[in-house]
Amino acid sequence: MDYVRIRGGRALCGEISVSGSKNACLPILAACLLTKDECVIENVPHLSDTRLMLKILQLVGAHVQYQSKHTVSIRAESVDPHAPYELVKQMRASVCLMGAFLGRTQTSDVSIPGGCVIGQRPIDLHIKGFNKLGCKIEIKNGNLCIDGRDMHGERIFLGGRNGSTVTGTANILMAALGAKGTTTIECAAYEPEIIDLCHFLQKLGAVITGVGTSTLTIEGGHELHGCRYRIIGDRMEAGTFICAGLMTRGKLKILNNTPNINSVVYDKLNDIGANVYEDADGTIFVDGSNCELRSSEVVTMPYPGFPTDLQAQFCALLTQANGISIVTERVYPSRFMHVPELNRMGAGIMIEGEHAIIHGVTSQRLIGAQLMASDLRASAALFLAGLCAEGETIVSRVYHLDRGYERFDEKLRSLGADITRESA
Ligand code: EPZ
Repeated sequence: MDYVRIRGGRALCGEISVSGSKNACLPILAACLLTKDECVIENVPHLSDTRLMLKILQLVGAHVQYQSKHTVSIRAESVDPHAPYELVKQMRASVCLMGAFLGRTQTSDVSIPGGCVIGQRPIDLHIKGFNKLGCKIEIKNGNLCIDGRDMHGERIFLGGRNGSTVTGTANILMAALGAKGTTTIECAAYEPEIIDLCHFLQKLGAVITGVGTSTLTIEGGHELHGCRYRIIGDRMEAGTFICAGLMTRGKLKILNNTPNINSVVYDKLNDIGANVYEDADGTIFVDGSNCELRSSEVVTMPYPGFPTDLQAQFCALLTQANGISIVTERVYPSRFMHVPELNRMGAGIMIEGEHAIIHGVTSQRLIGAQLMASDLRASAALFLAGLCAEGETIVSRVYHLDRGYERFDEKLRSLGADITRESA
């Protein structure tokens, strides 16, 4: 099992290019099943999650071929709408296969995804949406068996106790393409990744209006054709590198970010006095060399609120800000697995329910330690802490990080970090 060894205290400097967005790519790869024609997807990040999704597509009948390092051709001339448990259980995003199967074949048999360390991962809203579309649903041996042959357009309110659902919106959106008539989804998620999925579906010939808003209208029953499509840049990776530049007091230029999809993050960075700027084509400039960071309050919410997928990284960042910061996690209230590990480095963070109270000090640096990664974004937070800590930090179980960050240690090394990846 791999681990990384980081010797902290080096300012990161230089240019880095973010990879394609994991959370845009996964539903778009699933959506390639909606047509029998070839789809060519560019800017596909090399991640364990994307490789797993491509493996599942092959298993269900698609022909998958890498045309180059980040360009994949997918042609699903026929689809067997059954996703195997041993693969689905490894990645929650496989849940998007349900909507793709229904949109193409009007049936679906996919294992119900389990929970994970960041919290319960219910799919009650997905099921509500499928039911509203007229699907008949049965749970058999842990699988959700869905018969959507009578699917018809409907008006569906998809909001839940924590607001909108990203993959739930993706699922109902794709299923509605296989329904007779027009479907309206109210309280739809409109994260940049959902907008990217809508743009991809429109390129396939889908008729979708309201893209970028919380109300989507989908015309079902259209024959969809193939296309070539480029995935947006990963805003969570961009946000993670912004934190890295600030925490190491370095100077970074971050490329391949998609323009103005991080405005809520910039608003918070401005609050804490960070010197970060994005130009018209999305290039981000970070100068952490002489900014004294101020404490602040962060509350995670569905888009356009502060993204929960940057919460752990901001907790690490705010340990370097003067004063007491409060980070409130409203999407996954128990998503604080990074906190005990950060405290082992000397961070002063207390958890009170859904709040992390961070006693940030710029005077006393974090101290390197042996740490264990627990989930994707917590791993990133531990890397960031190790980069700015005094001494050596070891982060084990980096397979969590490989799910969502492509060659992260190599990218950090190219910016001057003293980081090596080793196998135990
Ligand atoms: C997506 O997960 C992302 N994953 C997550 O990123 C991200 O944290 C999350 O959206 C929120 O932005 C992918 O896109 C592959 P949700 P998803 O359904 O769709 C509740 C990462 O680190 N809910 O939007 O599974 C749920 O409990 C990952 O890249 C219901 O109550 O999240 C949560 O509180 C982690 N019932 C909230 O809604 C449902 O049926 C948002 O969940 C579905 C969700």
